[in-house]
Formats: sequence, C-alpha cells, structure tokens
Amino acid sequence: MISPVLPSYSRSPLSFASGEGSWLIEADGRRFLDFASGVAVNALGHANPRLVAALTAQANRVWHVSNLYTVPEQERLARLLVDNTFADTVFFCNSGTEAGELALKMARKYRHASGEPDRTGIITFEGAFHGRSTGMIAAAGSKKLTEGFGPLMPGFVHLPFGDTDALEDAAAQPEIGAVMIEPIQGEGGIRTLPDGALKKIREICDRHGLLLIADEIQCGMGRTGKLFAHEWAGIEPDIMMVAKGIGGGYPIGALLATEEAAKGMTPGTHGSTYGGNPLGCAVAAEVMTVMLEDGFLDGVSRKAGRLRQGLEGLVAAHPDVFEAVRGTGLMLGLACKPAAADVLKALNGEEMLAVPAAENVLRLLPPLTISEDEIGEALARLDRAATRVEASLEAAE
Ligand SMILES: Cc1ncc(COP(=O)(O)O)c(C=O)c1O
Repeated sequence: MISPVLPSYSRSPLSFASGEGSWLIEADGRRFLDFASGVAVNALGHANPRLVAALTAQANRVWHVSNLYTVPEQERLARLLVDNTFADTVFFCNSGTEAGELALKMARKYRHASGEPDRTGIITFEGAFHGRSTGMIAAAGSKKLTEGFGPLMPGFVHLPFGDTDALEDAAAQPEIGAVMIEPIQGEGGIRTLPDGALKKIREICDRHGLLLIADEIQCGMGRTGKLFAHEWAGIEPDIMMVAKGIGGGYPIGALLATEEAAKGMTPGTHGSTYGGNPLGCAVAAEVMTVMLEDGFLDGVSRKAGRLRQGLEGLVAAHPDVFEAVRGTGLMLGLACKPAAADVLKALNGEEMLAVPAAENVLRLLPPLTISEDEIGEALARLDRAATRVEASLEAAE
C-alpha cells in the first residue's frame, strides 16, 4: 500500500526532533554533526538565535499580506540584495525551482520586448540540476530527471559542462537567447569549472548578445566564501537564481536581475501569492545582515581552508575509500571509490550527516557557522567511517 507521504524520495530512517547550531538531535538524544545542512539550506545552523528572534518578532507583527500591497520586509530585503550584488531588481518566490521558472520567462520576455521573439533557445549544461518543475527538468535534460515526464518543454541545448568551444558554436545559432549555468554544480557532483571558464562564458554571451543566467541556488549565499560564487571569476551575470541558504531554513527564493534583463517584466507578467511573504523576508534580511558583517565571509574561507586540508589528509590516509577532494569554500565533495552510499552509511554510523551527489561524490555542506572544533570533530568522524569501510572491503575480499 502506498505510504501517506508520496514515496518520491528514498528516505533514510533517521529522523530529527530538534537542531542546535551544527547539530541535529534525534528524539532519543543522539546528536548528529550536520554536514548536510538541509542540502545547503541551514547556512547559519539550526535554531540560530538571531534568526529565531527575527522570525518571532515578525510573527508577532504580521504573517502575510498580499502582493497587491507594498510589503516593507520585501523592500528591505530587496534593497540589501541590490546594494550587495550586480542586480537592480529582485522578485521573491518560495523555492529555487520557482526562481528558475521566472528566469526562463524573463529571458523570453526580454527577447519579446527587444523585438527578437524567436530567440527563445537557452543553452544549459550536462550534469546540471535546476529543479523539478517541467521547465527545470527540461533545462537540465538528464534522463534521470526527465524519463516518463515527456513531452518536454522544447528550446534547450545541452552542452558538456564548461565546454567553451562547444558554447562558442552553439551561441552563434540565431535562435539562442540565453545561457543558464551553475558556477559550481551541486547535485552533479560538486563539479567546478576550469579556471577562466566562467569569464570566457561571460565573454561569449557578450559577443552574441546572450543573457547569462547564474543558478546560485546551492553555491550562493556565502557558501564559497564570497556572497555569490560568480564573484570569484570577476564577472556579473544578467540574471541570478537564489534560494536555499537565503532563508536559512525558511522557504524563500529570489530571482535577481539587471534593469535591462528585467525590462519585459511589467505589471501583470508574473506573480506569486506567497512570494516575498513577510516572515520569509524578515528571516532572509537577517541572514543577509549576518553574512555581510565584517569577517563573516573571510571566516568561511578560513574554515574552508582548514576543512580542505584535513580532507586532503584523509584522501592520503584512505586511498581505497577516497579518491579526491572537490569544490570550493564550504561546498566540498569527497569522490569515493566504493559506493558513496556505503561511505555515507558508515558516516551515519559515526553520527554525522553528509549528502550523496552524482559521480559517486559525498557532499560536505556544513553550516557556514561551523566552529573550528566541529571541523576537527567532523574530520575524526570521517576518518573512523573510512576505517569502517576499509574493514568491510577487506572482509568482502
Ligand atoms: C543548483 C540548484 N538549482 C535549483 C534547485 C532547486 O531548488 P528547490 O529545490 O528549492 O526548488 C536546487 C536544489 O537542490 C539546486 O541545487
């Protein structure tokens, strides 16, 4: 018989009753070190006192007002985003997928408003993950996401990740209007672009008049040690999808754009009942405020250096379990030799969480507020888990 909750996930039996900083706690009191963070969502840890205060203060004022009115919490959050990014304007929604849907609509409407309505094609990259709506699965294009859900939305051209030669050719096609890319692929296996590739992609977009859409849903919001990952490349996108970390656990997404890219989005062209809800905006404004405080992002980079160094040591110490470290900042992955799912099981046995990804990678996405001591603890737990995996590999021989 089908379970009351639609069985669209293969869920772990682990279940948590509460959270505290970098820890998730089961009902029986077992404490797990959380290197999943709800897949890069709980950027400031669990039950962060500043976020709890922002949420409860807002809950005592007003929970919801329609977007037919001016929403002060939305105005404040939009101002924070515009002042600290390339963007001139922001639309708020409730998830990353919704941000991506608007990115598609905006890219098309831009062409329509520019008198080039046939330039609807969008270039995306293999291994991408942009969400689960019909539009976003078509955008990513992999069989894993699309099988059985056809007919798919047309208009996407899928290229190998970071292949700027292929992009050069595809970008010259007259129907192409935009490029959508994750600066670091998350679900795809913590895949980074070759040095200089994002800059080259920006140049190609400029040369062909294409809009560059950055999907920073997983790699953005401080995760790499900059507010957004594209900043490392010294470029700016025209449109950017944001979600996950921006709400620190409260569901909120955002689509940021330049005035030029957004020129077709006039009143009546898009909307959302809950998008920009005062509760979500109040929390997200506090997340932004924390991340913009002196030393926060530098602290992410410093801790990331320590974690990475420790992980490199683990790869050297356990060559039959770990192949390599991938990623940037606190968006790291361990490419595994045995099935990453088996390594994760051993890690769960050491009361630590991580997230599997494609290419047999175990993602390590701790809260950005993780302490140096907790990083040391995580490395010790990973070490013990790898030793367990080695023992089971030997037993199987
Ligand atoms: C890069 C990227 N894009 C889009 C999404 C979809 O976001 P959401 O699940 O909030 O709709 C995700 C979620 O994992 C993601 O990692």
